Amino acid sequence: MNEILIKKTTDFFQKKFNSVADKVILSPGRINIIGEHIDYNDGYVLPAAIDKIICFAFEKNNTTTANISAIDLDESVVIDVTKDTELSDAVWTNYLRGVLLQLKLKGFEVGGFNCSFSSNIPTGSGLSSSAALECGFLYGINEMFNLGIKPIDMALMGQKAEHWVGVNCGIMDQFSSVMGLENKVIKIDCRTLDYTYHDANFVNYSLILFDSNVKHSLFTSEYNVRRIECTEGLGILKANFPEINSFRDCTEEQVVSLKSKMTDKVYRRSLYAVKEIKRVILACAALDKGDIATLGKLMFETHDGLSKDYEVSCEELDYLVDLAKAEEVVIGSRLMGGGFGGCTITLVKKGSEEAIKEKFTKLYKEKFNIDLKIYDVKVSNGTSIYIN
Ligand code: GLA
Repeated sequence: MNEILIKKTTDFFQKKFNSVADKVILSPGRINIIGEHIDYNDGYVLPAAIDKIICFAFEKNNTTTANISAIDLDESVVIDVTKDTELSDAVWTNYLRGVLLQLKLKGFEVGGFNCSFSSNIPTGSGLSSSAALECGFLYGINEMFNLGIKPIDMALMGQKAEHWVGVNCGIMDQFSSVMGLENKVIKIDCRTLDYTYHDANFVNYSLILFDSNVKHSLFTSEYNVRRIECTEGLGILKANFPEINSFRDCTEEQVVSLKSKMTDKVYRRSLYAVKEIKRVILACAALDKGDIATLGKLMFETHDGLSKDYEVSCEELDYLVDLAKAEEVVIGSRLMGGGFGGCTITLVKKGSEEAIKEKFTKLYKEKFNIDLKIYDVKVSNGTSIYIN
């Protein structure tokens, strides 16, 4: 499938710019096994890059303008790379402008270039197409102008670009897009950015993404509110337990002991963060042992916390997880990513995949009159240069 995307992108480039692309970059979306909304809470996360990608074609043009075409949107933009950039109404361009701004802020000088890109990462599904856009774009510029930016710094600059666009996100998405490895999940310590790779081996279970096909507009505002609520909760914890620096250092008991000092929301957000950090450690150990039953149980617990305490789920996602819970052949399921729509990640016993897909599609349609979308994904390499 990606070969088709690559051809589409390079053919377009050739027609549009009348020249063969010099660099072709592939930048993936991501899944996350467990560890949701704790990358910005000093937690651990367990994501992986996937085989859904954005393909970019690039070449330098010896001017000071970047001519960029979003093939799928049939839109183009011209940006003067020497000028300060501002947010635009063409939202897709902002992720790229954000990257150019980060380069400028770090003192990198880049010249003009031509670029076209095309994607097969569904947008609004919680698969981090925006991180893929930022990281692939930056990777290409880094290659063209030999800037020598290290992969982790690319992830950090991508994250800053996303902040500039308006989502005060953690590091998980950009990190996994850049650092992914085939058949490996990455356990990232979001406090230190240390990371280890673990086999993405779900033994006799298959990983399936069920896309609710809804994206509630609350996402950006509520995401940023969650961060503020967590900061408030942590502040109260710190004030009462001087040894605490982050949710990583907290016990559930400490949070419970301060219930009366917190608003109900701040209390529940804090409790969720502390519990989720612990769950990721247990889940990663279970994965290493091939104990998919424990991993699945933890995934269900995460969903419960995201839905009831962190309140980032929605009716559609809760329904999909309830359907999963009712099936003996499903061992774990939860909403994935920021929430308020997008996908659930679900582990289904090998051999039962098609029956479950069919059943969920039918029941989901009956309940919401919405077509369920389904993705089988492969755990794949991070952002890389394509050499044919
Ligand atoms: C979005 C953000 C990530 C992370 C997830 C929730 O994808 O970009 O940084 O916080 O939500 O886990």
